[in-house]
Amino acid sequence: MKASRFLKVLKLTKTTLSEYKNWGEGEIYKAKKIVNNQTYSSDNDNDKEILQNDISVSEPQAKYSSIQSQPSQDTGKTLEALKEKLKNCKDCPLGEHRLNCVFGEGDSNAKLMFIGEGPGYDEDHQGRPFIGRAGQLLTKIIEAMGYQRQEVYITNIVKCHPMKEANPELRSNDRPPLPEETSKCKKYLDMQIDIIKPKIIITLGAPSSKTLLNSEKTISDLRGEFFTYNGITLMPTYHPAALLRNPSLKKPVWEDMKKVIKFLKEKGFSR
Ligand code: URA
Repeated sequence: MKASRFLKVLKLTKTTLSEYKNWGEGEIYKAKKIVNNQTYSSDNDNDKEILQNDISVSEPQAKYSSIQSQPSQDTGKTLEALKEKLKNCKDCPLGEHRLNCVFGEGDSNAKLMFIGEGPGYDEDHQGRPFIGRAGQLLTKIIEAMGYQRQEVYITNIVKCHPMKEANPELRSNDRPPLPEETSKCKKYLDMQIDIIKPKIIITLGAPSSKTLLNSEKTISDLRGEFFTYNGITLMPTYHPAALLRNPSLKKPVWEDMKKVIKFLKEKGFSR
């Protein structure tokens, strides 16, 4: 290897390492409860109302027929149409008090999809996922993995802000989503996954990990292992908010992300 190329690689490695070292440093932590031992039921079969006429959840070829002019060709448009449909969703009580339905954002053909817990105050106000302190840390993790935020897809297990008190103007008012909320919302996440077809899903924290894996295990037990969800490889890891509260979790998260990077590389999906 040429000396100049070697120096470039060395510089990149140094930057990545310092990114990892600095994850979350200097953050002021505010406690946000993550409940590990809730029961999360899987999809609710009776629940196809809002999109029933437009989007079938069970027939792959017919899926999204009325909103998708070119099946599997234009994933961006299909996602936009689904987002538009969900804008005024009132499937569960979260729809009553949220300011915005936070659908998700990123590359509609992303190889890597991150699924968090639910929008918080900042996300509800701006209508974008993971833009608060936990989101900024997630962005650093994504960049340390060698991706730009806009190259991956980021969403949540529920699209509306789960609040302790029904007041979107209150800060520190977050709570984990309830089982009935996740079960109502999960079909829309399934549709997003089906449109995007990521090569790997990373679930962040207990609610999304336990819901998609239909498991009662704790996130500590689930993290770091590969699973399959609807035929797609899935890696559960800790939520970035947990890393803000407990920086010693950065190391296991980075171990998990290294496995993801290796998986993508070995399957020939890395950039
Ligand atoms: N935490 C989440 O789980 N999701 C967000 O969008 C923001 C914070």
